Amino acid sequence: MSRKILTFVLAAGLVVSSVPLSATADNHTPNENADHAFDNKVIKKIDADRMYNHIALLSENPREAGTQGEYEAVQYIKNEFESYGYDTELQPFTFQEWDGGTSALSFNQQSFSGDPHTFNGSVNASVQAPLEYAGLGSSEEVGSNVDGKIALIERGSYTFYDKVQNVMDKGAVGVIMFNGENQSGNHFGYTYDGQDIPAVAITREAGLKLVERLKTEQVTTTLTVKNAGTIDKTSYNVIATKEPHKKKDNGQIVMIGSHHDSVAGGPGANDDASGVSAVLELAKIMAKTPTDTELRFMTFGAEEKGLVGSYHYANSLSQEEVDRTVAQFQMDMVGSRDAGELIMFTPDGEKNLVTDLGAAAGARVAEVVEYGQLGRSDHVPFFQRGIPAALFIHAPLEPWYHSPQDTLDKISKEKLKETTEIVGAAVYQIARPNTPALENAEVAPGPVHYEFDDRPL
Ligand code: BES
Ligand code: ZN
Repeated sequence: MSRKILTFVLAAGLVVSSVPLSATADNHTPNENADHAFDNKVIKKIDADRMYNHIALLSENPREAGTQGEYEAVQYIKNEFESYGYDTELQPFTFQEWDGGTSALSFNQQSFSGDPHTFNGSVNASVQAPLEYAGLGSSEEVGSNVDGKIALIERGSYTFYDKVQNVMDKGAVGVIMFNGENQSGNHFGYTYDGQDIPAVAITREAGLKLVERLKTEQVTTTLTVKNAGTIDKTSYNVIATKEPHKKKDNGQIVMIGSHHDSVAGGPGANDDASGVSAVLELAKIMAKTPTDTELRFMTFGAEEKGLVGSYHYANSLSQEEVDRTVAQFQMDMVGSRDAGELIMFTPDGEKNLVTDLGAAAGARVAEVVEYGQLGRSDHVPFFQRGIPAALFIHAPLEPWYHSPQDTLDKISKEKLKETTEIVGAAVYQIARPNTPALENAEVAPGPVHYEFDDRPL
């Protein structure tokens, strides 16, 4: 952008020495002092240490939706919002999840020392029968000799559905499947509607031993799968509302979101305790700042289960509330030391009010933020209801994404601070009480030029 201005001025044959290189964006008043004065009211108060401390506490335990870990995070977030003086709502909702129940295996009365893994499906049964090896479980391989028996099958070549169906068609009462060539572990397998026989997965090593054993002896097998099936679980959204200044209320709503749940077993320091810390920090510093816009600070549950919490919330909004909502800012993974630069993603890859404000705030705080196309987070349900929404995230991603290594030590206070400053400055640009006169105000920042970035994740 600086280059563009420069070239233009040169072509016009003017003296350029007084054009500062920092006078960046097109149409953007090159008055940095005024711009900073515009933002300072909020962004000067942002404290990265406080944010880091939230992440430290939240990432002590996994926060998988529907677990005690999530519930504790929810209580922590609610208490924080309330301590800043906000009315805070917990919005519970249910989602369905498969639960493996318990399974057990024994061979000739001796309990299996390995750990059988229940196939995803819905079963509650115990069977005892001889074990019968049925190869890969193709229809050609499976004969009537599996009738009344528990079929031992090797994984591979055919679908789980076909394998289970082929042995059931020939009268098998249970399935033990061992892993395929070059595949480790025993976490695999699905049964489908109507395939309600007990089925478990074991390692390749354990399976090959059984194949050997069956060559010399009959192996009477007891296979038990108890209470495997889909169960209802409860997760929560946490919503803190800041009312607009009574005399200046313009009727508009701005939403600032993140998700507090993590993947199973993951500390989720960056995904997305970082976003929660940013939402909490913005809520804290805005608590006593008058606005002409209603602000809703929120953290969603069950994002990792398919954006369940944000769909629940967005679909619970009345059309009237949707019409009044002018922007939704989503912060997800905003603090990784090992990720790339900040980018704003919209589900359709088009600019909107949120990206316009984010790009301009970026130019004031650090540098212009580019935009790209991506769903995969809680901005999607808002976008689908017609609300301008964008995801603020760093790309390319860090290698720790969704792993147990997504821990506090990988969090950069600089990244946290910069992202929160940019989003805070963008939010404050629409929420500060001097709109609609804002565009005419002396210090009001103008739009900037920013580009589509097809950056890899
Ligand atoms: N923070 C991620 C979203 C993400 C991941 C954005 C990678 C950009 C790059 C989010 O928590 C997540 O993992 N989302 C799920 C999608 C959801 C529908 C289950 C995902 O991307 O797998
Ligand atoms: Zn996430």
